[in-house]
Parts: sequence; C-alpha cells; structure tokens
Amino acid sequence: METKQAAEAKWSHGKTIPVKNVQALASDAAELTEEAIKRYIRPARTSDVVAHSSQSIPIIDLARLLDSQTYRLEADRLKSACEEWGFFQVQNHGIPDTVLENMRNDLEHFFRLPLDEKNKFGQLPGDLQGYGQAFVESEHQTLDWCDRLYLVTQPPQEREMRPWPTTPASFRESIESYSSELMRVTGSLMGIIARNLGVELDRDTYANQALRMTYYPACPVAHDKVLGISPHSDISILTLVWELNLVEGLQIKRQDAWVPVKPHPKALVVNVGDFLEILTNGKYQSIEHRVAINPHKERMSISAFHLPKYDMSVGPISEILAGGELKKYKTLRVDEVAKVVFSSKLDGKKTKEYAMFSV
Ligand code: OGA
Ligand code: NI
Repeated sequence: METKQAAEAKWSHGKTIPVKNVQALASDAAELTEEAIKRYIRPARTSDVVAHSSQSIPIIDLARLLDSQTYRLEADRLKSACEEWGFFQVQNHGIPDTVLENMRNDLEHFFRLPLDEKNKFGQLPGDLQGYGQAFVESEHQTLDWCDRLYLVTQPPQEREMRPWPTTPASFRESIESYSSELMRVTGSLMGIIARNLGVELDRDTYANQALRMTYYPACPVAHDKVLGISPHSDISILTLVWELNLVEGLQIKRQDAWVPVKPHPKALVVNVGDFLEILTNGKYQSIEHRVAINPHKERMSISAFHLPKYDMSVGPISEILAGGELKKYKTLRVDEVAKVVFSSKLDGKKTKEYAMFSV
C-alpha cells in the first residue's frame, strides 16, 4: 500500500498543461515559422551573453583518482574543480564502450520512433516519469525546446516499469547497465569528495538516481531566440551528463557570462547540485546552467541526477564548518524539498535559496 501512495506523493505535481511534442513540431519544415513557435521565443536573444573566452571546465581523471600513486594530486585537482567551477568533465571513467554504445543506439532508436509509439510510454497526468515535457504550469510560460524521457532508475525498488520503453527490445537492459555504471562512477567520485571535505558520507546521500534523456531538435528559424533548457541549477547531490551525440549546447554561468562546454568524446560532464551546496554550507556551489540550440543539428543528452534517500534530512555538515562559521542553510527533509520543487511551488526560487536562511 505504502509504496504506490508514497511513489505518487514523491513524484506527483500539480496539473501540468499538455504541450506539443517539439520533435514533431520541428520536423514539419514548411510550418516552422517564428509565429508557429512563438511559445518558445524568449524576450532576450540567447546568443548575446556567451563568453568567447578560452576558459574551459577542468578535466578530472577517474583512473588517476583510484590509483594510490596519483591519487593525491588528482584529488587536489578535483577539490579545486568543485570549489572554483562547480562543473568538471570526468575521463577514464571505466564505463565499458559496449554499455555506452548500446545506450546510445537504443535511445536514438527510441527518439526516431513515430510519436504514437513513443507516447505509449508517455507521462500520465500528475506523473513526472515517462516520455513528454517538463512541468508546464501556465499558458504564458516560455517553453523549452526539447522532449524528454524521464525515469527513476535507482534504487531498483523505487522503479515503476510502466514508462520504461520496450522498443527497442534491448532498451530496458541498456538503461539498467548504464544506470548501474553511473552509480559506480558517482560512488567513486563521492567517496573522494567526502575525503576532500574530511568527512564520512553515508551512501544513502547519493542512493537515488533518475535519468533524464533529452532530445533537442535543431531550430533553423530562430535558434538564438529559443533555449533547450532555461537557466537552472540541479536539485541533485551530483549530476552526470553524457552529451551522447557530441553536439554543443550546454552553457554554464561564470562571472556573469555563459561559458559553452565543449563535448568530449570520452568524458562525462559532472556538476555539483543544490544538495551538495547545502551539505558543504556553500563551499561547493551549484552553478546555474542552460542549453542552447543548434540551427542545423539535433542534440541528445542523458542527465543522471543523484539524490539523497527521501527520508533523509540534509543540512550543512557540522564538522566542515570553520570555528564560528554560521550555517547558511536549513536542515530539511529531502522528500519535503522534492515535493515543493517538483510541484513547482518555488516561484522561480531555486532549491538552495528555499533552504537558505534569510539574512
Ligand atoms: C539537465 C541539464 C544539460 C544537457 O538535464 O538538468 O542541465 O546538456 N541538462 O542536456
Ligand atoms: Ni541541469
């Protein structure tokens, strides 16, 4: 009994307004005018504020982190990536090529299915999981230029299989393998992040995982007036993003400019989420980011969000506070925060601001 109701409470949100499938909208080239896509057009051009600097996010080597000979130096690099960037790429992650290839092939196959086929695994009213769009609460909201397949993947007992696609036939297995590889990489990174912070972190702190598999169609008519994802920070502890067809689009906010992240064929993008910022009392910041759209190329990515168990309470860890340092964030139960965030009651406020003590 408990499980169904609890699952509903965890993932349900208010009424989401159904909107058009973006891939279908974009595929009708004759219809693709600014008027036809006016619900996606933003007041400010999205290309105005992109930094053309040579800055690029740090690259961390997981094999070096796991080797006692090279550990110290690489762990220091990870520490400064967390402190100074909030974003980094991880290479030598050890995920077998076959796991990545199967996942890429099956996800591309799925996105190419006719809309009716994909909709068999569509979001149901009040559920975030399945194929569909992000939460839409108003007819006036500017929409994101993407469709997504969103699934809760870990721990296994939290899975609800209905929205897991069965076409292609190997897809569920591919998701399962990808999901567990990402749990392993996350476990390794979190272990070292904890050591860098000088604390023990319970595995429950990153035991929940959800995958957001996103399809961003090309937008030839107005690519610099639409966004694939509006500026946001992630509610996670740690997010791992795979830019699987290597099309650029992700941009991070740094010194008031948007810095593009260049996809790396052998690396995943990792970012600090709001809950890690809260745990570290702001020593590691969860950085705002967004996704820009290419005029000619479709883009696909998979974000893996890792979250603490829902019945945990998360707040700044006392041991890492310097003498006299005040807690900037409240200690809140994860399911309470998730409920507020997923029902979009934050009024545009981010999770971390919701948790922050007002000054
Ligand atoms: C996200 C996100 C980035 C991307 O899903 O929260 O920021 O590259 N995705 O798709
Ligand atoms: Ni994000």
